[in-house]
Amino acid sequence: MDLYEFGDNEIYVTKIGLGLAALGRPGYINLGHDLHLGKDKSAEGMSAHAANILDFAWDQGIRYFDAARSYGKAEAFLGDWVIKRNIVEPEINIGSKWGYTYTADWQVSLPEGQKHEVKEHSIEVLNRQILESRGTLPGHLDLYQIHSATLESGVLDNVAVLEKLAELREAGLLIGLSVSGANQAAVIEKALRIEMHGQRLFDSIQATWNLLDQSAGTALQAASDAGMGVIIKEAVANGRLTPSNNNPKFMGKMLKLQSLADRYNVGVDAIALAAVIAQPFVDIVLSGAAKKEHLAANIKALDVEWQDDPLDLLADFGESADAYWGFRSQMAWN
Ligand SMILES: NC(=O)c1ccc[n+]([C@@H]2O[C@H](COP(=O)([O-])OP(=O)(O)OC[C@H]3O[C@@H](n4cnc5c(N)ncnc54)[C@H](OP(=O)(O)O)[C@@H]3O)[C@@H](O)[C@H]2O)c1
Repeated sequence: MDLYEFGDNEIYVTKIGLGLAALGRPGYINLGHDLHLGKDKSAEGMSAHAANILDFAWDQGIRYFDAARSYGKAEAFLGDWVIKRNIVEPEINIGSKWGYTYTADWQVSLPEGQKHEVKEHSIEVLNRQILESRGTLPGHLDLYQIHSATLESGVLDNVAVLEKLAELREAGLLIGLSVSGANQAAVIEKALRIEMHGQRLFDSIQATWNLLDQSAGTALQAASDAGMGVIIKEAVANGRLTPSNNNPKFMGKMLKLQSLADRYNVGVDAIALAAVIAQPFVDIVLSGAAKKEHLAANIKALDVEWQDDPLDLLADFGESADAYWGFRSQMAWN
């Protein structure tokens, strides 16, 4: 895979990255997660499975990997694999995130009231998790992101947090944030304006943009124009833009995707990913595949050479951001 500069950050990344949200823990919200992970969900079994997928991703040329403190053992699986494969910087780039703590204790179904992950965007959590991330990924943490920054959490106004992030940035770490929810654009616009010690604080933004929710596009273009690296997550809408979606209400859209998939000789998931890659603001699109076959199908997105603008071909795909995120909030951990 070709390498491209990540924003104006002087590191070089592949258009497709691998996200480890589904690989680091037995429970996640993606469609069919439980089924696709297979039977052995012990930590050892999942570590071996993650290493298999990481090997495959590496052999396919993927050079950007995305983790978070709250993705169960994702950082640890990645850290062990990098050492075993003897991969050295700058061959690989790894981003992780702080701000959520994994609390599911390797369970998939939790008793009423107990959470899979707990959010706290405080200086105490940042101070603790940066040490944990660096300890787990020694010498391999290139980018550290606030996990799902929102206006309500106040994290973008928290001077102690911003000062600490500036200190880490000045010591050589790239600093980013991820955003989620119907308000992504407003958070991106605010982050873009934050300066510390006379320099823009955030080097990158990770956001959801896909055929169903295109609401962050203008803000992401502004971030890209300013030189921030842009990472797209949830490009196949947590499985809704893949063959796993057999919801009869989605049939019309699926048939349209399938006709393009047939035309370009790829799967529907590759069409969804290729539509993301075609956007001028995109540096990296994450595959969230937990199965080798799915990752292979996702990578086919790079083979699609659009003859027409995919957003014209799939013009009626977008949902309102509220409808999209309302649906997502109903997706069950499995
Ligand atoms: N707030 C944040 O910062 C945040 C939030 C969400 C995600 N992320 C990052 O973004 C990455 C990707 O997001 P995501 O996994 O949530 O969503 P996603 O990439 O939109 O969806 C991944 C789902 O699509 C399925 N899939 C892909 N190709 C398929 C195919 N050909 N056939 C059937 N199913 C297919 C996968 O199945 P299998 O798993 O079975 O392969 C998985 O269930 C994550 O790993 C994480 O790194 C960050």
